[in-house]
Amino acid sequence: MAKALQPVPGRSSRTRPLASAAAPAQQAGVPASAPPPAPLSWWDRHVVPRLIGLACTQAPIMRRRAALVPRAHGRVLEYGVGGGANLAFYDPARVESVTGIDPSPPLLARARAAPRAAVPVVIEQGVAEALPFADASFDTVVTTFTLCSVADQAQALAEARRVLKPGGTLLFLEHGLSPDPGPCRWQHRLEPLWKRVAGGCHLTRPVADAIAGAGFRVTDVARGYMETSPRFLGWIESGSATPA
Ligand SMILES: C[S@@+](CC[C@H](N)C(=O)[O-])C[C@H]1O[C@@H](n2cnc3c(N)ncnc32)[C@H](O)[C@@H]1O
Repeated sequence: MAKALQPVPGRSSRTRPLASAAAPAQQAGVPASAPPPAPLSWWDRHVVPRLIGLACTQAPIMRRRAALVPRAHGRVLEYGVGGGANLAFYDPARVESVTGIDPSPPLLARARAAPRAAVPVVIEQGVAEALPFADASFDTVVTTFTLCSVADQAQALAEARRVLKPGGTLLFLEHGLSPDPGPCRWQHRLEPLWKRVAGGCHLTRPVADAIAGAGFRVTDVARGYMETSPRFLGWIESGSATPA
């Protein structure tokens, strides 16, 4: 692994305050604050974080993170930072700061304790659909395995577009709707149950097409099944986009 991807040994796991990470709320272009996240069920508080910790750190996924996340630059906003699995992959030579948001208190706690690269990090509770940040305040938005779980994918993408600077970059690594009829049928069959047990994760959402539909120009995308997952879960799309 490249030097820039190594976690910092012995680094405090506390979140550092970071005045410059994001523009303060209540400025022009900042929407009214989001409603407080709904209280979590016992399952979502105790089981889902463990499932995410296991599922989202498999070797093939970590390899894809290692290929994508070091492309982030400048002021970075990470959607659904829960678990903190990307934090070790930011390149300190390219990244000024990382602001990670997530609605889930147990996943926020995991993110705060996760190994991280030597970049200033702020972890905050919030939802991607209603960001407390001014227009054009980030150079990069990173979303990995999160667009499947947000309540409103189109609104989350609209917010990413709003807070990105002109010419900024959306980096994505997401699972989604398979183009093949067999897995696609299973995705539709399983989704109602899957959403309930897997923290609201959807199986039938398009990824790059949804990003393009939200007003981005997709600049590169790699698509394919992940080696170690069943195909209903393993259709992965990864790449970058810029506000069109
Ligand atoms: C499958 S986990 C992926 C976690 C992490 N992004 C990763 O790559 O390992 C989905 C994450 O999305 C978060 N999430 C759910 N709804 C969200 C929302 N509306 N806005 C932002 N994050 C959300 C969950 O709390 C969870 O941390």
